[in-house]
Parts: sequence; C-alpha cells; structure tokens
Amino acid sequence: MSISSEHDQTPVALVTGATGAIGQAIARQLAAKGFEVVLACRNQAKGERAVQEIKQATGNEQVHYELVDVSRKAEAQALADRWQGPLHVLINNAATTPRQRQETPEGIELQFATNVLGYVWMMEAFSDVLKTSAPSRVVNVASYWAGDLDLDDLEFKRRRYTNGQAYRQSKQADRMLTVAMSKRLSPHGVTVNACHPGDVNSSLSNNLGFGGHESPDQGAATPVWLATDPVGQEKTGKYFEHRSESRDRFAEDEAANEELYQACLAY
Ligand SMILES: NC(=O)c1ccc[n+]([C@@H]2O[C@H](COP(=O)([O-])OP(=O)(O)OC[C@H]3O[C@@H](n4cnc5c(N)ncnc54)[C@H](OP(=O)(O)O)[C@@H]3O)[C@@H](O)[C@H]2O)c1
Repeated sequence: MSISSEHDQTPVALVTGATGAIGQAIARQLAAKGFEVVLACRNQAKGERAVQEIKQATGNEQVHYELVDVSRKAEAQALADRWQGPLHVLINNAATTPRQRQETPEGIELQFATNVLGYVWMMEAFSDVLKTSAPSRVVNVASYWAGDLDLDDLEFKRRRYTNGQAYRQSKQADRMLTVAMSKRLSPHGVTVNACHPGDVNSSLSNNLGFGGHESPDQGAATPVWLATDPVGQEKTGKYFEHRSESRDRFAEDEAANEELYQACLAY
C-alpha cells in the first residue's frame, strides 16, 4: 500500500530547504506522486521560482511555499500556528555549512541552530498536527558523513570551529534525535526515520569542499521512498542509505540520545 492509499484525501507534505538542490527534487518528486506540497523556504523569490518550476514540471497545481527561517524557533512555531489542515509527511532537509562560525540573532551557532535545532523545532511545532493526521511520517535528511558530536560543546565554544566538524556533528545529532523523537511520536502513529540522501553538487557540499557524483533526483530518491513507501510506515527510529536500512552506530546509546534531546529542548 502506498501512502496515497493510506488516506482518503490528498496527502500533504512539508519540505524544508525546498529551494536547495536535494530539497527541490524531493518536493518535485512528491508533487509528481500527487501530494499537495508546501515548500518551506527562507527566500521569497527562490520560493516563488521553485513553486513555478515544480508546477510546470509536474502539472500539479497544489504546490505552495511558506516562508520560515528554521534556525529561529519562533518562526518554526509561527508556521505551525498558521498551518491549516492535515500534515502527512514532514521532511526536515534544510541545512547550512558556513565556512566561518556564525550565530543566529539569538546567539546560537548557526549550523547547530539550522541543522539540529531546526529539525527538533519543526518536529515539536508540528507534532500535534502530525498526530491528528496519523498515519504520518517524518523524514530527517541526515548524512553518512557524521561524527564528532560533543555533548558538552554543541556550539563550538570550546573547540575551534571548522565547518566540516560542525557539519558532521550536526548530522550525527540528526540521527540520534530521530531515535529520541521516534520514541515520542511513534506511539501516536507518526514514524520518524533518518537517511543519507546521496552525494549531490550543491552550495552546502561546495562549502565543505565536495562536489557530488549523484543528481539531485538521485539524492531525493531515499527521502521520497521513506515518505511514500510502506517501509516508511512500518519502520521507525531507523537510518537508511540508498533505500535500505543501515546500522546506525551513532544512535545506539539511548542515554546520549536523550541527553541531546533534552539539551535541544532547553533552547
Ligand atoms: N549534497 C550532498 O552531497 C549531501 C550529502 C549528504 C547529506 N546532505 C543533506 O541534504 C540536505 C540538503 O542539502 P543540499 O545539498 O540540497 O543543500 P543546498 O542545495 O545548499 O540546500 C540547502 C537548503 O536549505 C535551506 N536553508 C538553509 N538555511 C536555512 C534556514 N535557516 N531556514 C530555512 N531554510 C534554510 C537553503 O535555503 P536557500 O536556498 O535560501 O539558501 C536551501 O534551500 C541537507 O540536510 C544536507 O545535510 C547533502
């Protein structure tokens, strides 16, 4: 059974970072599968352009954008507060990799705020609508390039900042938080899974010094599969690469997952 047949109505998806390489491909593929798709973007001109391109490519007119800076808790909450109707799929995908250490206006290191807290804030803000829309799913776009998480220095205040290390930490955190959030949401019919998308040429990967040998569509394939295939409803709290479940050595320490989740809630 595909997700379309799990619901009487048109399934609704919200994709963060949907003006980026992988995010726009995810949004387009979901639109092609008949979803109503909301692109969560921080730049209006880019959002308008992406919506037009997706409508033109798919013929699906139920494609919209909403403005949100996911590195700011109040903006994630404001988006959830103005949300109307159900939400069946939330894809957390927005991320950033600034070469120099930067902070949000609230004084939070930008990669941690965007790539980690942004995921938590979106899941928390949308948890009620996801529950009332159940069966529903969250897909957290993480990476196989992960590690170096220091629970005592999440914002690189003690360690010297490099964007590679801050990025690897953030993607480890996304995988750990997937388990912590799954524990809380799956009893309500909301699955939460994480994945590596693919190696794709993008602003994010270029900042890290990488190109990418896969197309945006290839990068979107695993997130879209988790969002639409029955496996994404059967499995929860798991990590996937190339459409297959993979052991996640970073998410096996339950106490650490919980400590990280509680640390995120304190922001
Ligand atoms: N590319 C790869 O090889 C690769 C490999 C493994 C994992 N990933 C993961 O795939 C995901 C997408 O990456 P990508 O390669 O597609 O990167 P990208 O092309 O640079 O796209 C990143 C997207 O995130 C948005 N964004 C950044 N900060 C934001 C904020 N504060 N609020 C709202 N949106 C924000 C960007 O918006 P703007 O368009 O306004 O800048 C852009 O739409 C990330 O989670 C990344 O970690 C990528």
